[in-house]
Amino acid sequence: MLHIKKLTKRFGENVAVDSATLEIDKPCMIGIIGRSGAGKSTLLRMINRLTDASDGEILFGGRDVTKLKGRDKRAWQADCAMIFQQFNLVPRMDVVSNVLHGTLNRHSTLATMFNLFPIADIHRAIDILDRLGIAEHAPKRAEALSGGQQQRVAIARALMQDPSIILADEPIASLDPMNAQVVMQALRRIHEEDGRTVIANLHTLDTARRYCDRVVGMRDGRIVFDGLPEQLTTGVAREIYGADASFSEEATSTEIETLDATQKALMEAEATI
Ligand SMILES: Nc1ncnc2c1ncn2[C@@H]1O[C@H](COP(=O)(O)OP(=O)(O)OP(=O)(O)O)[C@@H](O)[C@H]1O
Ligand SMILES: [Mg+2]
Repeated sequence: MLHIKKLTKRFGENVAVDSATLEIDKPCMIGIIGRSGAGKSTLLRMINRLTDASDGEILFGGRDVTKLKGRDKRAWQADCAMIFQQFNLVPRMDVVSNVLHGTLNRHSTLATMFNLFPIADIHRAIDILDRLGIAEHAPKRAEALSGGQQQRVAIARALMQDPSIILADEPIASLDPMNAQVVMQALRRIHEEDGRTVIANLHTLDTARRYCDRVVGMRDGRIVFDGLPEQLTTGVAREIYGADASFSEEATSTEIETLDATQKALMEAEATI
């Protein structure tokens, strides 16, 4: 399906991604982990063609997408929609218009300027918002929503493009544990129910283990681990993060598990009242 071959990105002397090879044969949910500067964002940005590769190939459906230009390149960018840590919504615009901007490359600039979207697209946008549990916020300005709700709007905008692949660069890094959980569950459902591939850069081990079928570890631009979540032992994690003996899982842990423990404790407390 998606075959990344010896993909390399150089910034001057610095090799941000160093001959990365990754084969994805069937739709799956992949978590990419690694310390800051390991090359995770650069890898996703090359896949989406936000930045050009220095070397290597990205094969999808038999075509090398690193060579696409113009309309073909835009079609590819829609087919591997990207979501970001900072949501990248238009804050003062209403939620449904933000979502409709996911169809931007299908409409004329003039129609988009005046927010003239086909009624069928508006219905679809609201259906997608409903699926993500935020349809009642459709008329509100994006900036009036919580971080987790805004990230779901960004996911809805990506889904408007009906992509085969969703690339998520640290989608929960700005969210509190509760919202982080809701957003990761939404991405997981989109993978399971629609058969879309999700590739997410994650800065915590527990999130990768918990939501992903496959984990890829990057260090200094290279892929140093590619396996199942259960193969991601503390020893392997130490190698990926290049940490010394003082490496602790807690340092790379979100509070999602703490949240679960708190919820469980609360439920137990309620049960005894
Ligand atoms: N536009 C750029 N110009 C020059 N160097 C860059 C550029 N973008 C990234 N780099 C360098 O490439 C390397 C990889 O950066 P990248 O942002 O991909 O890492 P990352 O794994 O996403 O890190 P983080 O976890 O902090 O987001 C770093 O050394 C970074 O300084
Ligand atoms: Mg990054």
